[in-house]
Amino acid sequence: MEPIQDINILDTELRRERAQENDDIDTDDLDRPKMAEHEVQGARQVYLETYGCQMNASDSEIVASVLKSNGYGLTHDVDEADVALVNTCAIRENAEQKVRRRLDMLRAKKRKRDTPMMIGVLGCMAERLREKLLEQEKRVDLVVGPDAYRDLPRLLAEADSTGQAAVNVQLSKEETYADLSPVRYDSNGISAFVSIMRGCDNMCAFCVVPFTRGRERSRPVSTILRECQELVDQGYKEVTVLGQNVNSYHYTDDDGTDVSFAELLDRVSQVSPELRVRYSTSHPKDCSDELLQVHARRHNVCNYIHLPVQHGNTEVLDRMRRTYSREQYLDLVERAKALCPGISLSTDIIAGFCGETEAQHQDTLSLMREVEYDHAYMFKYSERPDTYAARKLDDDVPEDVKQRRLEEIITLQRSISEVRNANEIGRKHTVLVEGPSKKSDAQLCGRTDTNKMVVFDCADYEKGDYVNVRIVDATSATLIGEALGRTTLQEEAERLVVG
Ligand code: 5AD
Ligand code: SF4
Repeated sequence: MEPIQDINILDTELRRERAQENDDIDTDDLDRPKMAEHEVQGARQVYLETYGCQMNASDSEIVASVLKSNGYGLTHDVDEADVALVNTCAIRENAEQKVRRRLDMLRAKKRKRDTPMMIGVLGCMAERLREKLLEQEKRVDLVVGPDAYRDLPRLLAEADSTGQAAVNVQLSKEETYADLSPVRYDSNGISAFVSIMRGCDNMCAFCVVPFTRGRERSRPVSTILRECQELVDQGYKEVTVLGQNVNSYHYTDDDGTDVSFAELLDRVSQVSPELRVRYSTSHPKDCSDELLQVHARRHNVCNYIHLPVQHGNTEVLDRMRRTYSREQYLDLVERAKALCPGISLSTDIIAGFCGETEAQHQDTLSLMREVEYDHAYMFKYSERPDTYAARKLDDDVPEDVKQRRLEEIITLQRSISEVRNANEIGRKHTVLVEGPSKKSDAQLCGRTDTNKMVVFDCADYEKGDYVNVRIVDATSATLIGEALGRTTLQEEAERLVVG
C-alpha cells in the first residue's frame, strides 16, 4: 500500500515530531497542508491516533463513524480522553517499534492521571500479535482487528464492566463497511479516501498484509458511487479510491454485469466532471490497457499511477513472488507512457531482500534510471513473521549492506526527482488548492494532476479552487509556482482538446 507515513494523527505537535523522525524516506509529506480539525462531541471522549498507510487512515474514519453513532465523541487532546485508541501498522519491524514506544507513552500518561483512561490497539498489529499483545503490552484494555470495528462499542462496554481486556481479531470474508459513512474528522474538506476493497490474496513473499487484513473482498459499486456523490455534495474536489490491490477489484452488479476496476474508475469519474479521481495501490501484474485507456479518456482521472515495482531483477521478483518479470514491468511502463502522454509514475522499492546480490541491486538502480519515477517510497527489507520469506528464505544480506544499498537507491531517486522537477520549470499546471502551505500562511499548496506538490503565493485563492499555475522553481520534493488565475477541470480539458 502507498505512503507509509504517519497520518491522521490528531495531535499536531506529535504529527510534527513524527514527520521528523520518519525513517522511511517520504519527502512527499514535507509540504502537506495544515488539516482542519473537527472535534466531535459525545458522552465519552475518544482520542484516536493512526499509523501506517492510507488504508489505515480510511479505517480510522470508519472507527470514528462507529463510535460517533454510539454516542462517543472525538478529541484531539489525549489528556481529555476517556479512551485512547492507536490504529497500528505491522508492515515493517520499525513501524511496530514506533507503536510500542507510543503505547509506553500513553501508559505513562495513564498512570499519572486521576481519572481512568482505556488504551486500545486497533488494526494490523492487533491482528498479528493478538493475545501476545496483552501479555507483552500489559494493561492494554482493547485489541481489535481490522474487520471487527463494528464490535468496538460492545468491546468498550465489556472492558469497562469487567475490568478485563476485551479482544476481537476475527477476520471476515465479507466485511467492507460498505454501509457506513466515514467521519472525516481530520480532513482538509477537499480530498477524501474512499475504500473500495479490503484484504489481499497476493501473498508476496515479504508481506504481512494478507495475514493481518485477510482475504480480498470488493465493496458493492452502488455504495462506492453513493459515497463519492455525497463527497461532491459536501464540496470535496478529489477522491482517492483505496484498496491493497485495486486492480483486482471485481463486483457483480445488481443487473448481472461484472464490474472491473477500470469500469469502476470510469463510473467514479462520471460522478462529477470537477472531481479529481486518484487510486492506490495498483499491482503491476493486472494493470490493464483498459485501465490505461480510462486515464486517457477521462480528463478528471489523474495522469498519475503508483506502480510498486519492489525490485529491478527478475530472479529477485520471482523470489518475492511478484508474478511479473523486469521486462514485463518495463513493457507496462512503456504502454502507460504511450497511452497516457506525460503520465507521472511513482513506486515502492525494497533494498536487501533475501539473497540479493550486488549485480541484482544494480538492476534496481538501472530500472529506476529507465523508468524515471517522479517519486519513490524506499525501504530496507524487514523480515516479517509467518510470511513466505520468513519461512522459506534466508534474510542473508547484512544490515550494513542493506543500508548502503538503500542509500544508493535514495540518492539516485533524489537526483531523478530533481531533474524531473527542474524540467517542470516554465510549464503550466492545474493545481487543486489543499490549504495553506506548512511553512508559511502567506502561501498555498496543492497538487498537480500528476501528483506533484506546488507552493505558490495566496493572492485571493481558496482551498478547493482549481488554479492555473506556472512553475518558476523546483526542488526534488516541491515545485514553486506563480498563480495565473482560477480555472475548472472542464475548461482545462476543452483547452487541451482545442490545443
Ligand atoms: N520489508 C520492507 N518493506 C516492505 N514492504 C512491505 N513489506 C515489507 C517488508 N517486509 C513495502 C513494499 C510495499 C510497501 C507498502 O511496503 O514496498 O509495497
Ligand atoms: Fe502485500 Fe503484495 Fe498484497 Fe501489496 S500486493 S499488500 S505487497 S501481499
